[in-house]
Amino acid sequence: MNKKIAVLPGDGIGPEIVAESVKVLKSVESRFCHKFEYIYGKIGAAAIDDCGNPYPDDTHKLCMDSDAILFGAIGDPKYDNNPAARIRPEQGLLKMRKSLGLYANIRPVEIYNNLINRSPLRESIVKDVNLVVVRELTGGIYFGEPRGRSEDGKKAFDTSVYSDVEIERISRIAFKLAEKRKGSVTLVDKANVLATSRLWREVVTKLHKDEFHHINLDFLFVDNAAMQLVTEPARFDVILTENMFGDILSDQASVLTGSIGLLPSSSIGAHTPLFEPIHGSFPQGAGKNIANPIATILSAAMLLENAFDLNDEALAIRKGCEDAINNGILTPELAKESKAYSTSDIGDYIAESVAKN
Ligand code: IPM
Ligand code: MN
Repeated sequence: MNKKIAVLPGDGIGPEIVAESVKVLKSVESRFCHKFEYIYGKIGAAAIDDCGNPYPDDTHKLCMDSDAILFGAIGDPKYDNNPAARIRPEQGLLKMRKSLGLYANIRPVEIYNNLINRSPLRESIVKDVNLVVVRELTGGIYFGEPRGRSEDGKKAFDTSVYSDVEIERISRIAFKLAEKRKGSVTLVDKANVLATSRLWREVVTKLHKDEFHHINLDFLFVDNAAMQLVTEPARFDVILTENMFGDILSDQASVLTGSIGLLPSSSIGAHTPLFEPIHGSFPQGAGKNIANPIATILSAAMLLENAFDLNDEALAIRKGCEDAINNGILTPELAKESKAYSTSDIGDYIAESVAKN
């Protein structure tokens, strides 16, 4: 199979983790006789430094012309510490998601038995966790208008907006996913306070009644959901939620596994699908060869499966990641008292495991 992959390493540890993911994809190519073409593009702070635009037109064109996008991370402390900065790296990621119409972000959370003692929670609480956050990605308070400052600069405002169409299309994805999983969807919202949440409940309830009544549907307010993610996380199958709640809850859910560095994601919608780790750019770790590349390597597995329908190849990558984890080939945040391995050691190990598979 011949395919074209847009590779956008981004900022901080992005280039290092993406390099390991590409290493593993190359191993898949030779093991399974495929030909992938990797074309690199700039995004985020790296693109601002280059041309003043966090999502340049040529990066957008590259994405539109590719079969899938592999993305690393975005963000740079020089902007985080400067609230007055008008152009920010994160705008690049948001603009990419919006211009490609990637409204559905899928973030699976699975526990690795071998890492169960790395979880901040007790084994009895996390052992059966297997959930997926389905996060709406192109609407809500991230994009609603008006937003900004009053003329005198003394007030700031953001607006959360959702239409029925936006809610229905993401909900359909969540219900379909539940059909292939444990058959249950939890809608997380704040319907006791927010008008947008009440529309979510209305639209989701109708869709459930009309097309998905065989799926279990329940509703949780987001504050309660945050609590239950810690007290009883194994109760969840598919968590369906809006952009902002999904951002927060997916970080929270990720650490149940022991490290946010393990979780991949896919973003799908109108145009080229995007695959990225759910973590940030970890600037303190940049250039040190210590970041965990597994989230990005697993994102490559999601890419092969979802964008190219290459299931055996995706499985080989997953198996390689499991081998690394089960054999204690871990980066420092997970290694604890045992020997820690570098970012590139882990990439080498998984690439080799794929080649031998
Ligand atoms: C994520 C990130 C982004 C988001 C940031 C970098 C804009 O936190 O992908 O979860 O908030 O969506
Ligand atoms: Mn986030």
